[in-house]
Amino acid sequence: MKLSIFVAAFFLLSSLNSFAEKTSEELSSTCLGCHGVVSYNNIYPTYKVPKLGNQHKDYIIAALKAYRSGERSHPTMKAHAVNLNDAEIAKIADYFSSLKTENQNLPSINLEMIDEANSCVGCHGVDGNSMVPTFPKIAGQYEDYLYQALKSYQDGTRNNAIMSGIASTLNEKQMRKLSKYFASHNGLDKINQGRVVLKK
Ligand code: HEC
Ligand code: HEC
Repeated sequence: MKLSIFVAAFFLLSSLNSFAEKTSEELSSTCLGCHGVVSYNNIYPTYKVPKLGNQHKDYIIAALKAYRSGERSHPTMKAHAVNLNDAEIAKIADYFSSLKTENQNLPSINLEMIDEANSCVGCHGVDGNSMVPTFPKIAGQYEDYLYQALKSYQDGTRNNAIMSGIASTLNEKQMRKLSKYFASHNGLDKINQGRVVLKK
């Protein structure tokens, strides 16, 4: 049922755009095959494809450029990013960052702040909705993706001057707890989940 709505929306979007120059929606449509499917998994290792809806534009741009240059390694994402020029990346980032749903601004579930998060909130915000556009929002992101990201900084698969240092101080239990904490807040959005999607 959800899938058929998604497929219908996908074809409607593609046909609407077939006469025009490539719009941001058209450029983003290939991405929805993974990023638009709720709880779609990456395999080996298995973790959910990250949510992009409502993410900061600047961070999406930085991430796509990092995949394109190979600075951030992921074969599938590299294959997609190498075909994009800077203008296309900006359009795509505009599209995903502007996806807002009705309940995106509802207060988060009343969660007690955990001590482990003290060292994160200065950049990512108390609930993971960072205010600084180059610091990704992590509120509402899939828990297993957050854990995977922290692991990747720790083992060097993913490199970042700030996050590699921070992750190296965390043990297994703390990474699990932090992933669960930030995933439990409202913020990032699942795309095409059958909810009304309002654009900015
Ligand atoms: C085959 C599935 C697939 C497709 C298609 C795909 N992605 Fe991804 N994407 C992933 C996975 C898996 C990751 C997480 C990779 C990692 O661990 O670095 C990811 C990560 C990302 C990230 C980083 C998110 C973050 O929070 O750091 C961005 C941005 C992104 N993709 C954008 C796109 C765009 C734009 C397209 C279309 C041009 C696209 N993706 C197509 C699977 C996909
Ligand atoms: C000084 C600022 C700063 C602090 C403090 C910080 N982060 Fe980050 N974080 C960043 C930046 C910048 C990135 C993007 C790095 C990149 O491009 O890979 C990031 C990325 C991440 C990501 C990956 C998000 C994604 O979408 O792929 C996770 C998860 C994360 N941080 C969790 C944490 C946690 C948990 C803490 C506390 C233990 C923390 N961060 C502390 C700045 C910070």
